[in-house]
Amino acid sequence: MEVAKTIESVRALVKAARSKGKKIGLVPTMGALHIGHISLIEAAVKKCDFVVVSIFVNPTQFGPGEDFEKYPRPLDADLEICRKAGVDVVFVPTVKEMYRSENLTWVNVEKLTESLCGQSRPIHFRGVTTVCAKLFNIVAPDIAFFGQKDAQQAIVIKRMAADLNMPLEVVICPTVREPNGLAVSSRNKYLTEEQKKDATLIYKSLQKCREMIDAGTTDSETIIAEMRKILSQAPSIAIEYVNIVDAGALQAIDPHACLPTGRRGGKVLAAVAVRIGPACLIDNILVDASKK
Ligand code: PAJ
Repeated sequence: MEVAKTIESVRALVKAARSKGKKIGLVPTMGALHIGHISLIEAAVKKCDFVVVSIFVNPTQFGPGEDFEKYPRPLDADLEICRKAGVDVVFVPTVKEMYRSENLTWVNVEKLTESLCGQSRPIHFRGVTTVCAKLFNIVAPDIAFFGQKDAQQAIVIKRMAADLNMPLEVVICPTVREPNGLAVSSRNKYLTEEQKKDATLIYKSLQKCREMIDAGTTDSETIIAEMRKILSQAPSIAIEYVNIVDAGALQAIDPHACLPTGRRGGKVLAAVAVRIGPACLIDNILVDASKK
């Protein structure tokens, strides 16, 4: 496994692999790798012949007062995980390598970035799409792998790639959870054992949503109220949002008449963001409401 610190070196390694006819896979990450990231790497190893993992805590997607400085950076452990998972190259650029001078060019996906996390994090998705566009230009992968855990991010990246005719496929992999349902996240490291227990209410609230839709509830406001009730069982949880949106456009759905038939094939995205102590945690599930 090679560790590339510069754009030039990762490009040379990918170029050599491509000249041998290899299919290139890219897994963009911010490091502090866990089984969620590993599932993406495994998918990449399965589908591609040459896998690049990028580890870069991207400053432009963090707002003022967010955890950019505090974000965990256990590089040696991350490299070991990549080695064991069969990664070919880990790209670990510095901020200076990725953003050489004042950045004047931004990639911004409209509309899809306004709801959910976009409401409280106004510059977040601009940072994500800009850094992913840069990584796609640097690595030129055939396939890039993202997690359903960050559903809005995945949808936004897919749209960016389509709108800008980027010559790659974006594959979305399922959310990996702890046995108790908590979605695995680098930010779970910020939680105490007690807070981790409270955080299991996030998935419980999402399961409640699925149960209610399966049982024929058609009113999303009623479902959201039930989900909020579950989350408020733990005083440590401060709700940022609980929402049920159209899974394609990420727009709010008609609160009273949408769920049985749905739109876009009836897929809705139930999404939750909460603060627990120092951590902001997000999770979501896709529910097919059209079958009910
Ligand atoms: P990061 O939070 O490190 O996540 C990297 C990738 O891992 C993302 O595609 C994310 O959705 C996926 N992932 C995280 N937890 C997961 C889980 N429990 N199950 C499945 N996949 C999971 O997301 C980012 O980094 C950044 O925004 C990035 C795309 C790298 C741009 O800076």
